[in-house]
Amino acid sequence: MTDRYAVMGNPVAHSRSPRIHAQFARETGQELVYTTLLVEPGHFKEAVKSFFATGGKGLNITVPFKQEAWALADHCSEQAALAGAVNVLFCDAAGRLQGHNTDGIGLVRDITRNQGGVLAGKSVLVLGAGGATRGILLPILQEQPAAICVANRTISKAEALVEVFSPYGKVSACGFDALAGKHFDWVINATAASLQGELPPLPPELLNADAWCYDLMYSKEPTVFCQWALQHGAYKALDGLGMLVEQAAESFLLWRGVRPDTTAVMAELRAG
Ligand code: ATR
Repeated sequence: MTDRYAVMGNPVAHSRSPRIHAQFARETGQELVYTTLLVEPGHFKEAVKSFFATGGKGLNITVPFKQEAWALADHCSEQAALAGAVNVLFCDAAGRLQGHNTDGIGLVRDITRNQGGVLAGKSVLVLGAGGATRGILLPILQEQPAAICVANRTISKAEALVEVFSPYGKVSACGFDALAGKHFDWVINATAASLQGELPPLPPELLNADAWCYDLMYSKEPTVFCQWALQHGAYKALDGLGMLVEQAAESFLLWRGVRPDTTAVMAELRAG
């Protein structure tokens, strides 16, 4: 029987993961099927159990189940444990459910390998302090930036993240008001504001010369954050398509032991 993989979420019909993994499979000569599985709230655990009990090989987990997947896993990678969220599940040889989080690694790989960006030694501002931020802080810190500032509407949430991640590097928290007069080499938007086409209130002088901006969101048209970035002097304004493809490649590597080349998929998705 062909090896089965899927992405579980709600909603999930829009997911590009089946297309991405089908292309990875072709490219690497692997035989597998990858589908979407719509799961109703309250039924996540039984859906996962049933998937693996019937021979499923691996799952990607998306909104709103990443935290539940973390709680369900028998063992989590350090990155998933710190993120408190899991986007990759599989059963190991002993039948234990392994949880990983490839979102942050995907972001860093897109920045450093695909785009030629450098985080080492740079001042980084991360906007937002929700699950998305929690998922990216460790891989960014591992690149050894000069410092990361996490700015959030609700300052206490940013402060809670600082507590968790301080052992791994220089991290601080602030509200958006406190950004006045500060300047950064990198601004990474991890707020849910862009989902509504909104922007956090950002001072116009926020970007250093040659600053790079990255929106974890992606869309066909430039996101509001990317538009803001270009209007305010960013050297580059990147959206989250590359991160999406790279987190998928990391998932594929965990499942199949081979890393697909992402260039062709990226070009194909950009083309629409
Ligand atoms: P996710 O898992 O996608 O990060 P989340 O945990 O709900 O989602 O977090 C959403 C983040 O976007 C939070 O940092 C939220 O700010 P608060 O913690 O103050 O709620 C931020 N956010 C959402 N809408 C926003 C808006 N209109 N302006 C600024 N920040 C916003």
